[in-house]
Amino acid sequence: MAQTTAVFINHSSSDAITDFVLKHGNGVKGLSEIGLKNLPKQYIQPLEEIISEAKIMPQASIPIIDMSELDDPSVEEVVRRAAEKWGFFQIINHGVPIEVLENVKEATHRFFRLPAEEKRKYLKEFSPSNNVRFGTSFSPEAEKALEWKDYLSLFYVSEDEASVLWPSVCRDQVLDYMRRSEIVIRRLLDVLMKNLKVTEIDETKESLLMGSKRINLNYYPICPNPELTVGIGRHSDVSTLTVLLQDDVGGLYVRGDDDYWIHVPPVNGSLVINVGDALQIMSNGRYKSVEHCVMTDGSKNRISIPIFINPRPSDKISPFREVLASGEKAVYKEVLYSDYVKHFFRKAHDGKKTIDFAKIRRI
Ligand code: OGA
Ligand code: NI
Repeated sequence: MAQTTAVFINHSSSDAITDFVLKHGNGVKGLSEIGLKNLPKQYIQPLEEIISEAKIMPQASIPIIDMSELDDPSVEEVVRRAAEKWGFFQIINHGVPIEVLENVKEATHRFFRLPAEEKRKYLKEFSPSNNVRFGTSFSPEAEKALEWKDYLSLFYVSEDEASVLWPSVCRDQVLDYMRRSEIVIRRLLDVLMKNLKVTEIDETKESLLMGSKRINLNYYPICPNPELTVGIGRHSDVSTLTVLLQDDVGGLYVRGDDDYWIHVPPVNGSLVINVGDALQIMSNGRYKSVEHCVMTDGSKNRISIPIFINPRPSDKISPFREVLASGEKAVYKEVLYSDYVKHFFRKAHDGKKTIDFAKIRRI
């Protein structure tokens, strides 16, 4: 059966491939597993989107911060500097048990191992809720070139809703990972807020900083031509903070100075933290939401599991009053968070352009 499909796909029109991947729930994982020899042309990205050896800064790296030392004020300072300068860092000794991380990785593999007919139930057309979505690439309708990635995206509303709607093969492990990472997220937000003169996180601020959560299970299958495509194109996240668990394959790159990129090496047991656009806006640009992307691998399947800590969709976000108290001019205007997110998904990944939506234009 796989062999016939392979012959069929290798000689197929791009419409047939699109149907196979997008409509039938096979994803790019399905394409990869039938042993496709050449990357279909709709996945070929412009050359400038590919990070070749020449564009990598080998000597540079983002900070790795030991959270067990966070009571030391100098370590707090390291966190703030990392969020200001790099927008990215890794944390170790963060308090989320290693089994919880291992279990959610295993659960991710279990979900993607389900037959296409099962995963297909969560495609946009069939999913019983907008809060559970299986898909491929990023915004296929808006993209000139597709991305080599499948995903399951889960918007968290409550444990009760999750227990009804989320796929049972991964639900408990994902919820556990979300619950257990909560403490370290709060701790990081506290440290980052203190530096903005936000000393009290009241209910309104709590909603703005961490009022909603989305968790994605990302699957980047082995790619026949990794030098021609991307796993995720250049983008910044629209979150307040993102917590990302990656496996040991590697392939995540962060923009460094100028036109160079920095690899985020897998560190066993660590979590990658990055600033998203919402925090850049609320901090009036103090904390940076830095562009990043994922390259594909020619010999290994890769998974990653980001938790996007977001404002609530109904929140209006703008620079915090405390940040502007000293007379600093607002760089961003007030925007409804759900409008901001809609703007992000309406277009293909395009680097740092999403944030222009909230920029104040001065004449
Ligand atoms: C994302 C992202 C990086 C990765 O999902 O927004 O940047 O390593 N993921 O998968
Ligand atoms: Ni991202």
